[in-house]
Amino acid sequence: MPGILLGDVFPNFEADTTIGKIKFHDFLGDSWGILFSHPRDFTPVCTTELACAAKVADKFKKRNVKMIALSLDSVEDHHKWSKDVMAFGDCAGSPLPYPIIADENRELSVKLGMLDPDETDKDGMPLTARCVFVIGPDKKMKLSLLYPATTGRNFDEIIRVIDSLQLTAQKKVATPVDWKPGDKVMVIPTLSDAEAEKLFPNGVTTTELPSGKKYLRQTQI
Ligand code: BEZ
Repeated sequence: MPGILLGDVFPNFEADTTIGKIKFHDFLGDSWGILFSHPRDFTPVCTTELACAAKVADKFKKRNVKMIALSLDSVEDHHKWSKDVMAFGDCAGSPLPYPIIADENRELSVKLGMLDPDETDKDGMPLTARCVFVIGPDKKMKLSLLYPATTGRNFDEIIRVIDSLQLTAQKKVATPVDWKPGDKVMVIPTLSDAEAEKLFPNGVTTTELPSGKKYLRQTQI
């Protein structure tokens, strides 16, 4: 069964977190948001991911993206684990720069479709997979990634995707393979050549292809 789909309003759940009780939409305010889930506290891959997320927290802030993590343990455990995370990231003594949701009874993980049936705890209960949800200022889901518990994520890629999401929310363009800010972008197929000429003063280059179809149009923003 599909869970939350692209374009759906993200659930306005209530949760206990390391910064107290939150209602998700109030927590987001007018910002973009990223919710990333983890199987368990005090686990090795998760610790590397949280430390990396702490290191790049300024990059999310610069892009007006509020960060929040989720793991299956208690707020108390999250506070203890945060100290390990910051020490592992060579920032011992500094606070974790984003909150962690406590989902001890798995309620939210079930609601958001985040459980990984192949990874279970010692009691045979499924752990949370590594989900990433990016939510826009309109509270709608803009991106969802689902990794198994055994594969850590790449936060540079997540930031690259957020740059693409924020650009394509503003301009009638799409970003090609391996795009980075500053690279050329694609003019979206639904825009006519005349509209593209008007919208993109830097000009539009159309690549000739064997089909003769003129769909591969690039511009510099
Ligand atoms: C980890 O974070 O290292 C991990 C957690 C659950 C299953 C496998 C790995």
